[in-house]
Amino acid sequence: MKKKIAIIFGVTGQDGYYLTKLLIKKNYIIHGIKRRSSSVPTKRIDKFLNQKNFHVHYGDLTDTASIHNLIKIIKPDEIYNLAAQSHVGVSFYTPLYTANVNAIGVLAILDAIRNSEKDIRFYQAGTSEMFGKTKDKLQNEKTKFNPQSPYGTAKLFAHHITQNYRDAYNIFACNGILFNHESPLRGENFVTKKIISTLTKIKYGFEKKLTLGNLYSKRDWGHAEDYVDAIHKILQQRKPDDYVIATGKQYSIKQFVNLTASSLNLKLRWIGKGLNEKALSSSKKIIIDVNKKYFRPLEVDHLKGSYSKAKKILRWKPKKNVKELIDQMIAEEKKQLNIL
Ligand code: NAP
Ligand code: GDD
Repeated sequence: MKKKIAIIFGVTGQDGYYLTKLLIKKNYIIHGIKRRSSSVPTKRIDKFLNQKNFHVHYGDLTDTASIHNLIKIIKPDEIYNLAAQSHVGVSFYTPLYTANVNAIGVLAILDAIRNSEKDIRFYQAGTSEMFGKTKDKLQNEKTKFNPQSPYGTAKLFAHHITQNYRDAYNIFACNGILFNHESPLRGENFVTKKIISTLTKIKYGFEKKLTLGNLYSKRDWGHAEDYVDAIHKILQQRKPDDYVIATGKQYSIKQFVNLTASSLNLKLRWIGKGLNEKALSSSKKIIIDVNKKYFRPLEVDHLKGSYSKAKKILRWKPKKNVKELIDQMIAEEKKQLNIL
């Protein structure tokens, strides 16, 4: 059988690694797109670089010409767009750049697909941040969007333009609406990785304190490896459609800290309120505190997704729970620190 050809924009990121791993297993020819950077950006995917069906090219979502050329030359069957300025907090500091990559960059890919002679299936990495400030306790594909950041707003444009191109030009274009998903390969400045990395270092004497922002927002955290499986399934259906991918479970940041501390056997005693809230160790040292600088101008207070459509149509459900996720992330931190 002829091998499928896929382009992955955002191949160097967390999901890029897990999707590449999955597509290699499925015998795809994969073309990953990396952007130019002053240091080597392929750390996560280095182990794939010697595989004969894995190729890496330069490209950038802010450079329409590079997108058109890559699609014209590679002639893929499927395009997975995972590329984004993916940090919500940072999007308040770089709103124009975030909109250029996360919104206009997606339109550039779709327009290149429209002008291609080949039928190309397209996946857009949408996000639960598009729900933003929502009254619905459990969000699904019908929940009203109300984004609270330049990141969420740009992603909402990408969501709608993907639907527009699907309807107007009969393109097999799909949106995933993925809730937070983490792994040992999560970027250092997302809250799960920051908590696990710093608390592990505190436990083994490499670090003294963890400083966080809002402890009371709630998130639905899944595992990236489970989620890329859903992403692939979305593009293998008979009809293009949009799907929420989530676990249906929700924890506050403080609960996530407590779960991590408990896995590390680190005793915490919480005292104080608001910006004065702190956690003390068993030797009464302050090991966690709160700083205003990690708060965002607007916050998304709670996210919890219903994956019932994905379960019914994609036959997908999450495999790993939050405790297994935390334990796997801690094990990787310990490995990095040479702790057996
Ligand atoms: P990530 O680790 O931050 O990876 C983002 C990828 O996009 C990286 O490969 C990055 O390259 C690339 N990129 C950034 N700007 C680019 C540009 N201008 N041109 C080309 N590539 C660019 O994010 P992730 O966690 O894997 O998430 C993958 C996608 O899913 C993102 O679109 C994110 O917004 C979305 N999403 C993530 C979650 C989640 O919880 N993880 C949930 C919902 C949606 P560098 O390596 O060079 O930075
Ligand atoms: N990053 C960070 N750092 N967040 C903190 C901190 C901190 O020190 N302290 C508290 N938080 C809170 C944030 O205010 C937010 O409410 C929550 O922790 C989660 O923050 P992040 O881990 O940065 O993730 P996110 O939910 O904003 O965004 C992630 O999930 C989205 C899907 O809902 C990213 O992966 C996005 O790309 C993704 O779309």
